[in-house]
Order: sequence, then C-alpha cells, then structure tokens
Amino acid sequence: MARNGMCTRRSRRWLAVSVMGGLLYTALSGTPLGAQEPTEANIASGRRLYHQKADCQACHGWSGNGDKLDSQAPDGADLRASTLDREQLIFVIKCGLPGREMPAFDRRSYTDDRCLGRTQADLDRLGLELPDPGATLQNREIERLADFLMSKVIGKGEMDRAACIDFWGEEVDVCEDVQP
Ligand code: HEC
Repeated sequence: MARNGMCTRRSRRWLAVSVMGGLLYTALSGTPLGAQEPTEANIASGRRLYHQKADCQACHGWSGNGDKLDSQAPDGADLRASTLDREQLIFVIKCGLPGREMPAFDRRSYTDDRCLGRTQADLDRLGLELPDPGATLQNREIERLADFLMSKVIGKGEMDRAACIDFWGEEVDVCEDVQP
C-alpha cells in the first residue's frame, strides 16, 4: 500500500512537470497543446479534396488565389490573402457565406445550431441564398482540407516556383509557368 502511494505521488509530480513542459513548449512555439503538425498524408488528402471532390478550385483557382477555373462560377475570394485562422476557416467551409455565393459543405448546416443557430428558414426570411455545394464533406474531410489550406494556402501570399513545388509536394508541369 505504502509503496503504491509513493509511486502515485511520484508519477503525479512527473505528470505536473510534463504538463508544465508542455505549456512552456506551447508558449515558445505558438502551437496549442494537443494540436499536431499535419502529416504529409493528411495534407495530400486535403489537396485532393480541394481539387476534386469539393471542387473549391472552380471558384478559388487551383492555387487558391481566386483565379477561378470555371469561367461561369462566381468569383471566389483570394484564399492566399486570407487572414482566417483554422477555426474560422472550418466554420466558413461548413456554413458557407450566405448571400455571398460561398456554398456550405456540411450536409447538416442550417438544420441545427452549428451555424450560429441560424436555420434554412432564417436564411429564407432574410433573403440570403446559398449555392449548392457540388458535394458535401464529412468532419474528418473538412479537417484534412483545413490541414492542407492552413499549411499551403491561407495567408501564404502570391505563389512563386518554390511555393508551387511545395504546394503540390513534387515538381509538376504547371510550376514551370509560375514566376521563379
Ligand atoms: C461556387 C463558388 C465557390 C466554391 C465552389 C467555393 N467557394 Fe469559397 N468563396 C466563394 C466566394 C464567392 C467567396 C467570397 C465571398 C465574399 O468575399 O463576398 C468565398 C469565400 C471563401 C472563404 C472566405 C475567405 C476570407 O478570407 O474571408 C473561404 C475560406 C473559402 N471561400 C473557402 C472555400 C473552400 C475551402 C472551398 C471548397 C471546399 C470553397 N471555398 C468553395 C465561392 C466559392
């Protein structure tokens, strides 16, 4: 019993020290406790969602600079100049921007309180339209999309050749046309 007690006390102290270490690390690196750097695989999966399933590029361009791929599509914002943080980004993807032609990609948006408590009926009453998304995304897909966008697009500014290669994760033909 006594020995067990000792052990517990010691491991508690150890836990306290590591938590302090974690907080210090957080303060120094600016990374919230528990948030991990996205893996290459998650970034690649987010990139595929951006270009394929969610087709964000139709309105925002392949690099996210607002140079839309589909000439019939609305003019998407320049995401490379965006100052949104991860949480705001995820909110915009899930809830869209009613009245501003940015679709909501969460299948259940405006059915419950996940979009600031607004419902489809509220939007109708306010005359705010939302275009249909080409496809809806699940939470974990939105997380991957955010991994990709936060590390390669949001706030990254104009793309040069090095950024282009980093964006695709390999040297691809389109990067040859990008300014060095
Ligand atoms: C049908 C066209 C369209 C599609 C598809 C689309 N968007 Fe948008 N998006 C817009 C428009 C238009 C705006 C800008 C609205 C404004 O500024 O008035 C916008 C704005 C945004 C913003 C806000 C940027 C800021 O800094 O305020 C984000 C983030 C965004 N889109 C992300 C995405 C992502 C991620 C996808 C794919 C999942 C996507 N969009 C798909 C049209 C689109």
